[in-house]
Amino acid sequence: MMSRPDEMDDLMAQHRQGHALPRGFYTSDAIFDYDIATVWNRNWIWVGHESQIPEPGDYFLFDYGHESLIIVRDREGEVRAHLNVCRHRGSRVCTEDSGRARVFVCPYHAWTYELSGELRAGREMGPDFDPSKWGLLPAQVIVFQGLILVCPSSDAPPLDTALAQLAPLTAPFGLEDLKVVHTASYPVPANWKLALENYLECYHCAPAHQEYSRSHTLKSPQQMEALLPDMCERAVAAGLPDQTLDLTGEAAIAHGAEVFYRRYPLFDGYKTGSKTGAPLAPLLGNLTGFDGGATDIVMGILNYLLIYSDHVVGYRFVPRGVQETDIQVVWMVRKDAQEGQDFQIEDLTWLWHVTSQDDERIIRHNQSGVNSHFFQPGPLAEMEWAINDFYECYKTMTNSTA
Ligand code: FES
Ligand SMILES: [Fe+2]
Repeated sequence: MMSRPDEMDDLMAQHRQGHALPRGFYTSDAIFDYDIATVWNRNWIWVGHESQIPEPGDYFLFDYGHESLIIVRDREGEVRAHLNVCRHRGSRVCTEDSGRARVFVCPYHAWTYELSGELRAGREMGPDFDPSKWGLLPAQVIVFQGLILVCPSSDAPPLDTALAQLAPLTAPFGLEDLKVVHTASYPVPANWKLALENYLECYHCAPAHQEYSRSHTLKSPQQMEALLPDMCERAVAAGLPDQTLDLTGEAAIAHGAEVFYRRYPLFDGYKTGSKTGAPLAPLLGNLTGFDGGATDIVMGILNYLLIYSDHVVGYRFVPRGVQETDIQVVWMVRKDAQEGQDFQIEDLTWLWHVTSQDDERIIRHNQSGVNSHFFQPGPLAEMEWAINDFYECYKTMTNSTA
């Protein structure tokens, strides 16, 4: 049980609605620990795609804060997640980032766990020792159209209803038939909330992202509105559902267990998020053509996907320390696409590589300024509405005992 740091009450009281958060939220070690215990340990985290662990025993680790999770396909073919903390004296059980295992053997005293997490044996623990009580702690798992979401807490916020709403909208993209073709990590010396907030607004896009702004209308609400009706028509013709802007409204992500869906137009001449506007990979799923759109998806509050007609880019802002965050970017294409023939990694990753480098720079400078004792939280622009929602959500989540 972790109690809420006193300074959090003071900081919450200082926060003015519609303004940035006070400095302490981004500088305090106690608040960082509390963020991990309340926000990260109690929410759904998108950790990867089923295609990364096709066979029983295939696993990978997902680490954040001081936590580590083992994501594994068990003998029955189910995707499972376990806390990577030995039930004996707490060693990390699995120390390789990914691989194929028959069992997990703790490197310290060799307690041996099944893929299902059950303890097979504890060496020399005597006749009264009951291994069935000492399995790895489980994390909850949802596989949504091939995407693996985990929540370490047993009282995971219910996401099923929201995902059921999302399912028909994303079905044409064939997300279950994707494969991960590239991942990159952009470490930034900033608090995870600053990195996330940066992703939540496109107010910075025009001044900070030259390349992105050439192709994406999100930087300008007026231009986006103007091009939207034509894109919607093309989207329907290409096999996408007839959708307007939002699935559940602008406040959707404020509740932490909701989803958000929005397809918006790229500028004329751009079929996808490429340098020239030309396609980058074969069309996803059942699509019959390029509609020149991009879909933003949010699942819960920590998970962001951008779906073009021919590839998917996943975003995560993984906390490592109070001012240490990895911006993780994951590129996916349809699983039968051949590298070198159907897509080129360099072309595929160009846009979000340069854009993430820009983001790393602006987030780093943001943290430097926020560290100043002269920083006073300023007013948010209308284009930053999603940050307000995030704050509401963050306040609710941190307003309880971890
Ligand atoms: S800490 Fe894992 S077996 Fe002892
Ligand atoms: Fe950005």
